[in-house]
Amino acid sequence: MDISQSSLNNLEVTPVTSEQQTKKQKRMAKQRVHVTLQSFELLNVIGEGKFGTVLLVKKKDSGKLFAMKIIKKSIIRKRQFAHRIIQEKDILAFCNNNFITKLHYSFQNQNNLFLILDYCSGGDLFNYISKKNTFSEKDAKFYAAQIVLMLEYLHSQNIVYRDLKPENILIEKNGYLKLGDFGYARQNMDSIEAKSVCGTPHYFPPEMITREGHGKPVDWWALGCVIYEMVFGATPYDDSNQKILFDRIKNSPVIFENDKNKKVSNNFKDIVNKLLKKNQNERLGTASVEEIKNHPWFDKIDWVALSNQTIPAPFIPAVKKVSDVSNFDATFTNKDVSDYNNDSTDCSSDDDSDEYQNFYYDCSQKQL
Ligand SMILES: Nc1ncnc2c1ncn2[C@@H]1O[C@H](COP(=O)(O)OP(=O)(O)O)[C@@H](O)[C@H]1O
Ligand SMILES: [Mg+2]
Repeated sequence: MDISQSSLNNLEVTPVTSEQQTKKQKRMAKQRVHVTLQSFELLNVIGEGKFGTVLLVKKKDSGKLFAMKIIKKSIIRKRQFAHRIIQEKDILAFCNNNFITKLHYSFQNQNNLFLILDYCSGGDLFNYISKKNTFSEKDAKFYAAQIVLMLEYLHSQNIVYRDLKPENILIEKNGYLKLGDFGYARQNMDSIEAKSVCGTPHYFPPEMITREGHGKPVDWWALGCVIYEMVFGATPYDDSNQKILFDRIKNSPVIFENDKNKKVSNNFKDIVNKLLKKNQNERLGTASVEEIKNHPWFDKIDWVALSNQTIPAPFIPAVKKVSDVSNFDATFTNKDVSDYNNDSTDCSSDDDSDEYQNFYYDCSQKQL
């Protein structure tokens, strides 16, 4: 039945003010939000980084384990990094790939931002390299090829990662890798226009140091560093003095020897030299990822089987029970997790701060 204009005019309608509208929106946002700090049991500290702490947590309703990355608002405010964390959350929520940690939830309270991620019980590659000292070329190839797949996916989505290093590469319980820490990743980068200096100095390519503009080739440079590090146990231009380090990155050739007289194949030297080309336009991978996948060092890699994770991994993390954190550094795991339980500022809102509006995310509500 049609309602005529005159009958509408006769209705007594109280106009909704914008203040009421905002209150209603806030109330609805609160009702929509289910996951908060209180949804998790905090089990262990497993890592620490630039802006906060990573904990192993258990979701109370499902019993599932996750990694909880806690980022202190006060620290990122001081360093004007809020946009980076929002970007980290947005990129993680966007990604859908076996080799990238999945973001399950994100939320905030007054003091902190929280990212709830896949938990990788094998720890990070840095810790594993530190324990083993060096890898055989065969094992390094298994890991390096997975890094190629991660970067291939990200670059195909126009995402540049910009902080590739063993600390950010995590080992799953099946021995395969997952990339974490998207704090420096940037989306919509299909040229070499970025001028900021970011990442970790030992993995900086020359174009980052000279600020001439960088893009996807930064990640292929870092891959060269990580391949070298897995085999030699140190980055190729290692020096604690930053001035000398940067000078070496810009000017020195790669030296393929260490004090243990490690011998490497010519194909290894060739791929590392080509990934560490000082000129980003000449770098392996810059023209296409196929240049890397077709390099003879990767001859024996079955890329399809690797991407389906059907090749047996050289190392399966020893995990006595699901919540075993022995693959993480004791400096972190010995810390008292109960400090994080006493966060009395917990509230289930994602609208209490303009700066982080829309920070709340629940992967089960993701539109595919
Ligand atoms: N999803 C995860 N599963 C297991 N460990 C993780 C996970 N995410 C991070 N970690 C551990 O916490 C450390 C710091 O996390 P990261 O995301 O790199 O923080 P930051 O941005 O502060 O560097 C990592 O090096 C790793 O050891
Ligand atoms: Mg990190």
